[in-house]
This record gives sequence, C-alpha cells and structure tokens, in this order.
Amino acid sequence: MSRTTGRHFLQIPGPSSVPDEVLRAMSAPTIDHRGPDFAELGLAVLAGLGPVFGTTNPVVVYPSSGTGAWEAALVNTLSPGDRVLSFETGHFAMLWQAMATALGLEVDLVPGDWRHGVDPDVVEERLTADSGHAIKAVCVVHNETSTGVTSRVAEVRAAMDRAGHPALLLVDTISSLGSIDYRHDEWGVDVTVSGSQKGLMLPPGLGFNAVSDGALAASRSAGLKRSYWDWEPILEANQRGYWPYTPATNLLYGLRETLRMLDEEGLPQVFARHQRHAEATRAAVRGWGLEILCADEREHSGVLTAIMLPDQHDADEVRRIILERYDMSLGAGLGKVAGKVFRIGHLGHFNDLTLAGTLSGVQMGLRLAGVPIDDGGVQAALARLEQP
Ligand SMILES: Cc1ncc(COP(=O)(O)O)c(C=O)c1O
Repeated sequence: MSRTTGRHFLQIPGPSSVPDEVLRAMSAPTIDHRGPDFAELGLAVLAGLGPVFGTTNPVVVYPSSGTGAWEAALVNTLSPGDRVLSFETGHFAMLWQAMATALGLEVDLVPGDWRHGVDPDVVEERLTADSGHAIKAVCVVHNETSTGVTSRVAEVRAAMDRAGHPALLLVDTISSLGSIDYRHDEWGVDVTVSGSQKGLMLPPGLGFNAVSDGALAASRSAGLKRSYWDWEPILEANQRGYWPYTPATNLLYGLRETLRMLDEEGLPQVFARHQRHAEATRAAVRGWGLEILCADEREHSGVLTAIMLPDQHDADEVRRIILERYDMSLGAGLGKVAGKVFRIGHLGHFNDLTLAGTLSGVQMGLRLAGVPIDDGGVQAALARLEQP
C-alpha cells in the first residue's frame, strides 16, 4: 500500500473522528477503579450524561458496544414470550428485532421500504388494535444509520398516548445522541439505548441505557434472564461513583472531556451545526443529480446522508476508488441496499472545511468511477456553507 500523507478522512457514520483533546484525556494513567479518585470521575460522568439524554433519571453505562446496550434494554424490561412492536426502517432495526426474537420475544414486525421512518399512524393503529395489551414494548431506531432516515420519536410517543396503550417505548439513539435533538424525559421514552462512538466523539466501547421510572418498575418483574446487563447492581454501585465490575476507565476520561465539549458548544448549537452540514450535503447530492435514499423531507438525518447510485453503478466501487485515491472512508450500503448506496457521515468532530473536503473527494470519486453526475454539486454545498 502506498504511503499516505495528511489525515485520513473518516467520513463513515460512526465511529466518528475523536478530537485530539479527547485522545489526550484518554492517555492519562489508568487508576484504581475502587479508589477515591475514580469515584470523582464516575460521579462526574454520570451527572454529565443526563442533559445529553434529556433526562434527570439514571443513565446506565456499560463497557460494551451499542449491541450490548440493545440487549440490556430488552432483558431488563421484558419476559419470555412478550410481544414487541418493531419497524423495518433499515438494517439496524432488523438486527434489533432479530435479537429480540433470539432472546425469546415475539416480534410484530411492520414491513418498510428503508426510505421512511416509523409511521406514527401505524403505531396508533397497531396499539389500538391490541385491546388486550399483549404488546409490551415498542422498539424504534431514532436515526437509522443504514439509511439516513430519522424517525419522529415525539410523534411516536403522541401516537402511543392517543392509543392509550401502556407498552414501554424503547429507542435506539446509537447514531443520534449528541448530534440530533433528543429528549428522553420530555418524549416519554422508557429506555434510550446509545453508544460512545458517534455523536459522543469517543472510540467504540461504551454502551448506555437511560432508564425511566416505568422501565425501572418493569425491571423488577421482567423475567428474561440477565446477569452482566442487570441494571440493579450497577445503579446501586453508581450511587457512590463505582461499578460492580471493572469499568472502561480510560473511555470514561474521554467521556468526561466530550461531555465538557458538548456543554461548552451548547446542545442546541451542536444540533443546528449537524442540520446545517446535512443540508449542505443534500445540496451537493441534488447538484450532482443523484437521489437521496431518505424519501421524506421531515425525516432527513443530520448525521449522515445515504446516496443512491443509478442502476449499473456499484457504490462499493466508488468507495474503493475514493479510499484508494483520496484516503477517505465512506459508509457502505448495508443489508438490502448493499452496493446500491453509499453513506457520507457528517457528524461529531466536524466543520465546514471538513465537509467541503469530503464532498470534493466524493465528487472526484464519482467522476473517476464513471458515474454520470452534473457539475455543481460541491458548488451548491459551498453556497449553503456561505450562509450561517
Ligand atoms: C442505529 C444503530 N444501532 C445499533 C448499532 C450497533 O452498535 P454497535 O456496532 O456499537 O454494537 C449501530 C452501529 O452502527 C447503529 O448505528
């Protein structure tokens, strides 16, 4: 492989680039996780997480990937044979429902075309029809990382309320937390699942569950087997700033730093920055004459944009050329859209010129791959970036 110069462009929709100050924070010596200094760190990160999730309730932190946090949400709240309502919004929603099935839950899967988010009207219909309240949980992926579609969680909650149904609302924010507006308490979410490697600008390795009072109550009678994922001993130890096992000390150093950075910028500004970069990216895609996978204007993701290629063109070949020529990684199409789309991540530690460079690399790569595109994609994005 030829030698590359300059920084690699990691423009996949997570893991996202880790800021230098976070890398430095994580390079501090590992300390005794049962000593007094650790408790200070533990209490600081647990307190700092609440505002990011929009909750005053506890947030459980696991040394795990996001998949572990999915499992934790299910096994702490549900019992074997419980019904859950899931929606085929994309690859990650399909993986989560497959996990639910593997754990012994009965999944009612609403089919989807991978171009739309969860339809709140369908939520209302399904729950109204379930007059015996057999459905115990509704599982929603807030930002489908495979499609660039953001489901409208507040509207899903309102639909559940209209149906007067007591099911728990479990939401995956693995690729939205710290990038797209999200409010665990205000939207009446019961378990918010998340991970460290996207909007939180950390390496992979931390999983999160924000937990409502209703979810905590459900956990007392939930019958699925659990041990490592059990919230109770973790919440108990967390009161003093500790964990019942060895936590990921150095990732927690990094988390303390990213929480400080998010607080310093201000969450509303962080969300607006992501929306603005997403708009500029869509301006480029439209300028190239290509199609965006997300088909609903209300559901465009602030975190990533999935771009469809004309038939006969292979999205993986475009990505291969861009990696080889410009040292930039773009997201592959996953599952049903493999080879048909590629994804541009515009999240986390990111700015106008990173986006300008990213889109320039994409435009050159599309041309080199022989994809017919119009001139002016990058120019349209730059025109958007000239505006606040
Ligand atoms: C929306 C979503 N859910 C779940 C996952 C799985 O998380 P992990 O790969 O950290 O286990 C991902 C990973 O990209 C994701 O984007």
